[in-house]
Amino acid sequence: MLKGKTVLLGVTGSIAAYKAADLASRLMKQHAQVHVIMTENAAKFISPITFETLTNRKCITDTFDRDYPSDHPVEVEHIALAKKADLVIVAPATANIIAKMAYGIADDMLSTTLLACTCPVLVSPAMNTKMYEHPATQANLAVLRQRGVKIIEPSSGLLACGDEGKGKLPEPAVLVDHILAEIACPKDLAGKKILVTAGPTREAIDPVRFITNHSSGKMGYAIAHAAALRGADVTLVSGPVSLTPPLGVKLVPISSAHDLFCAVTAVSAEQDIIIKAAAVADYRPVTVSDEKIKKADNDLSLSLARTEDTLQYLGAHKPEGQILCGFAMETSDLENKARAKLKKKNLDMIVANNVKVAGAGFGTDTNVVTFITKDNTEQLEIMSKENVAMKLLDRLLEM
Ligand code: CTP
Repeated sequence: MLKGKTVLLGVTGSIAAYKAADLASRLMKQHAQVHVIMTENAAKFISPITFETLTNRKCITDTFDRDYPSDHPVEVEHIALAKKADLVIVAPATANIIAKMAYGIADDMLSTTLLACTCPVLVSPAMNTKMYEHPATQANLAVLRQRGVKIIEPSSGLLACGDEGKGKLPEPAVLVDHILAEIACPKDLAGKKILVTAGPTREAIDPVRFITNHSSGKMGYAIAHAAALRGADVTLVSGPVSLTPPLGVKLVPISSAHDLFCAVTAVSAEQDIIIKAAAVADYRPVTVSDEKIKKADNDLSLSLARTEDTLQYLGAHKPEGQILCGFAMETSDLENKARAKLKKKNLDMIVANNVKVAGAGFGTDTNVVTFITKDNTEQLEIMSKENVAMKLLDRLLEM
């Protein structure tokens, strides 16, 4: 998602500097051009060689470094880097660099480069809780915020110094998410409200058992993530999954098909686009036993009742201009069955996939889908769920 983007990573002297190596590696995996600038103190915690190996680039520590390769044009490095950067992130950011940024002090390569940058700047403070909460640090952070610098809240927990509290560098995956949110995509869904459902539902049998399905939630979460990166106001109604909710989405956790119906219909009228990727149970046990059902020698039958079909309800109550997209998971006769659902549920599009096709369906990181509208059928190649999500949003936006 960061192909063609230049990210400057400023690393300062906090014990969390080791996590910046993981961040650099993750940015490389997103195909960013990563340039690392370390302060002298940071280089006492982690070697510049670590970053050089991860980024295939010289890690800069010295403003007056004149060690150019012979064929390298002589550049004023801090200005050249500042011009090249699409984004700068200082992670971990010590109280010292935050103070220097607030006052415009430029006395080493990182602070000098920061002063020359006009691109978005992210600062991820990491320090002892007392230092973080100190009025001086908070005042400096307030100055930076006012200037448009985005401050990433430190997380709480056991700190390296043994204290417990706020001041930990968030996990590198979270930092990458903040970077993606800034520069990965054009904000072509800004101002749009999008509701996504994801994951399975659970229909209780007794206090310890339930009926569910194999949905991992990955497809729905990829859609919610992509929509948020493109600037939409995203609500994600999610069944129980083991995924981290994407940054910036409103998560509404649900369990049963009835919960899903209530959560969705509470906000559906105000949505521009609704995408129903959840694998909703069609049946639930008629009665839920208060006590654990004990086994007996004979067979056991469960009486099942139909759940509400949320998508069908939405299709029947669709406000003017709203785009409604369903999913259809089939095991045979994909297009005809999906097309029948498109019509029956009054949808604008249905995303159909066949669970029996390799690389499609539950739990995988890829999918093989067909976009079906009233007048068109578009068969997509196998691709990552992230790419399916992006293509789906392109089509819905065109609509
Ligand atoms: N859906 C729903 N509520 C239900 C069942 C399904 O909102 N009780 C939605 C799903 O989120 C999906 C679409 O309807 O977007 C199609 O779901 P699917 O299970 O493929 O089809 P069903 O309509 O349930 O029909 P069948 O199970 O017979 O294939």
